Amino acid sequence: MNNIAIFASGTGSNFLAIHQAIKEKTLNASISLFVSDKPNSVSAKMALELGLNVYIFNSKSYKNKKEYEVEILQKLRQENITLIVLAGYMKIIGKTILDEYERRIINIHPSLLPLYKGKDAIAQAYNDNALKTGVTIHYVDKGIDTGDIISQEEIKIDPEYSLSDIEREIHKVEHSLYSKTIQKLS
Ligand code: GRF
Repeated sequence: MNNIAIFASGTGSNFLAIHQAIKEKTLNASISLFVSDKPNSVSAKMALELGLNVYIFNSKSYKNKKEYEVEILQKLRQENITLIVLAGYMKIIGKTILDEYERRIINIHPSLLPLYKGKDAIAQAYNDNALKTGVTIHYVDKGIDTGDIISQEEIKIDPEYSLSDIEREIHKVEHSLYSKTIQKLS
């Protein structure tokens, strides 16, 4: 059973889906830490409301990434975190955390990697008139969206789909695939 830290900066729908799967016992894990760099994000507010152990930091208050990651690492150690789950965390994980958590950090990306890496992956597929896209869960390494792939699920893009139709379909897949994948890593 994994003892998870969720890292999120955004709306937190993936975080919530994981939390829900644990509650419904389809995922055997616990969330012992929630980390965010955005105190006003929906995800951080949700984590507080859910009564989780929340650690919020402001990257601008530190000299560099190493300084704030050393603090995060202390929290991860304190809580005996076995798996870091990035769920819309908008910072790149640096060497400090990567070195200690090699192959124990996973990320969800809204495309079939290696296609459409980086930001706005859903819009990239849409603007490309792609006929399919999907969701990838991968280990985090020092590159951006380059780590070994753990699981993928494809979505067909109906030519009539608007960008928000694709977003809806992507999120539907994300919300089930992330928990299933974490369960397999237990
Ligand atoms: C998801 O689309 C995920 O693939 C990407 O960031 C988004 C986070 O959404 N990495 P949410 O904050 O979980 O709703």
